[in-house]
Amino acid sequence: MPRKIAAGNWKMNGSLASTAMVEALAKAFPAPECEVIVCPPFPLIPALVNLNSPFTIGAQDCHFSESGAHTGDVSPQLLKEIGCGAVILGHSERRADHGETSALVARKVTATQNAGLTAIVCVGETEADRDGGRTLKVVEGQLAGSLPDGTDPDALVIAYEPVWAIGTGRTPVNDEIAEVHAAIRDTLEARFGGQGKEIRILYGGSVKPGNASEIFAIANVDGGLVGGASLTAEDFGPIVAAA
Ligand code: G3P
Repeated sequence: MPRKIAAGNWKMNGSLASTAMVEALAKAFPAPECEVIVCPPFPLIPALVNLNSPFTIGAQDCHFSESGAHTGDVSPQLLKEIGCGAVILGHSERRADHGETSALVARKVTATQNAGLTAIVCVGETEADRDGGRTLKVVEGQLAGSLPDGTDPDALVIAYEPVWAIGTGRTPVNDEIAEVHAAIRDTLEARFGGQGKEIRILYGGSVKPGNASEIFAIANVDGGLVGGASLTAEDFGPIVAAA
């Protein structure tokens, strides 16, 4: 069984004072059973790396180039140099707010893995997709488009985040989560053979202390990618414990 993951995506939240939350979490989980990944906004990464916690510190995006004339962007090489271990790619908020396509995400996956970082690739359907019965088609299409030739399955995590469940307090029922995760697993096995069994598939979208254990017990759910409930130790602690 691959080690489960409890990953926090802080999005555009947090401040220098947020290091205290990670310190508290590290005190509570000095040797966590699961892998804990904390992804703050870029400027907070060095402060969290410097805590020398048992957690992986990740970023929420990166460019696909090593360097160059790309104002406002950050390269995976620099993220690696400052101590990051993972990068979230293709989050639905980046697909929606910045027009990121699966083709662009695929270039970022290659660059991220080439830099020695784990790519956490997000996929998920909108409410209209689900209502229209297109969930599996959309998710499989995003997976196919976002994982380029040469993708290293050992440096890959998939996060299934139904867009309509993000920040809404709504979650799919367990059978719906199981169905999509099984389809993702099938796709990964078809693509990567036996190694596809080991790729962690996270669920994201309104994971809270109250539902984490139940969701993480579903087949093919290898942990969670958590937004709002990753911002305080009170909320994220129980989720880490559940993983
Ligand atoms: O990446 C995490 C995410 O989009 C879920 O956010 O706030 O619903 O847990 P939230």
